[in-house]
Amino acid sequence: MITLGIESSCDETSVAVYSSEKGVLSSETFSQSDIHAAFGGVIPEVASRNHIVKIRPLFDAALKNAGIEKRDIDLIGVTSAPGLIGALFVGVSFAKGLGCALKRPVVPVHHLSGHILSAELSHPGLTPPYTALVVSGGHTHIFDVDEALNFRLMGRTADDAAGEVFDKTAKMMSGPYPGGKFIQDLAEKGNPEAVRFPVAFKGEVRFSFSGLKTAVMNALAKNKFSREDIAASFQRTVAETLSSKTFQAARMRGRDRIVVGGGVACNSGIRKAFSSLEGVRVYFPDFSLCTDNADMIAYAAYRFYGRRRFFGNSETAADTRHEI
Ligand code: KG4
Ligand code: ZN
Repeated sequence: MITLGIESSCDETSVAVYSSEKGVLSSETFSQSDIHAAFGGVIPEVASRNHIVKIRPLFDAALKNAGIEKRDIDLIGVTSAPGLIGALFVGVSFAKGLGCALKRPVVPVHHLSGHILSAELSHPGLTPPYTALVVSGGHTHIFDVDEALNFRLMGRTADDAAGEVFDKTAKMMSGPYPGGKFIQDLAEKGNPEAVRFPVAFKGEVRFSFSGLKTAVMNALAKNKFSREDIAASFQRTVAETLSSKTFQAARMRGRDRIVVGGGVACNSGIRKAFSSLEGVRVYFPDFSLCTDNADMIAYAAYRFYGRRRFFGNSETAADTRHEI
């Protein structure tokens, strides 16, 4: 079975071809990161326009590199929520138009389910049940995933997402956007025990990072600690918070496997904190699958085939926003 995946929820336009027999056959991504860097964040209207320009050439390249024709596509998966609504509409319109022309079903894929299932692409044989943490620029969510691929939200952030605090901490240090890698590089040269930063909702499966952000700002203003020590202490606090709360969620459901996905899952300090957990096995996607990509969307659509409904003819991206 050949599944075409399309992702356009934020600032990456991505098209991939997944074969149920051979795995990912091709994956073509255009990142608008450099375009938005000048603004210090993603500008929704600019993102939508660039998706429109890029989606067709990426689709053509994905088919060519996979060595297939349009008629070989059996199923289409597209990110339908959550994301920038104008950006989502580009991918969804393209997917539905293609589905209509080829007479193939289109599966609406929730972006977070894609991030979670991407771990299965990197670890063949891995299947639910497991506890899943998604940590990205917009999300910090813990889900319980059962055998039937039902995703149940166990806890989330009350304010900033983990990626957002990495980005804002980098901004306070005059670093680039996005700033996760910048903080990781600084942290490698600092003392992770230098500064004691606060952890919100101790003992609970929910997050809040706004207090940590203020604490970082205050630590920088004091001029007592180096940027390296602040970055290392900040990263340790986030890593320990994420790993301990996800571990607690796994324990609550009796799960012995944890999956971590999303852009922040690239972070070396976070990977280290999870790998030191005892009594659970932790699965990270390959680095290239942590940030936004269509591979995970094609794979998720394939996994949902026969379990979930298809996109209705008159439905839009907005109609599917509550489904995961
Ligand atoms: O999943 P993603 O590519 O896009 C969203 O759906 O948001 O995640 C982007 C986020 C950004 O906040 C970026 O700073 C963060 O992932 N990120 C990292 C690292 N690499 C990317 N955060 C910490 N450490 C990293 N190495
Ligand atoms: Zn994402």
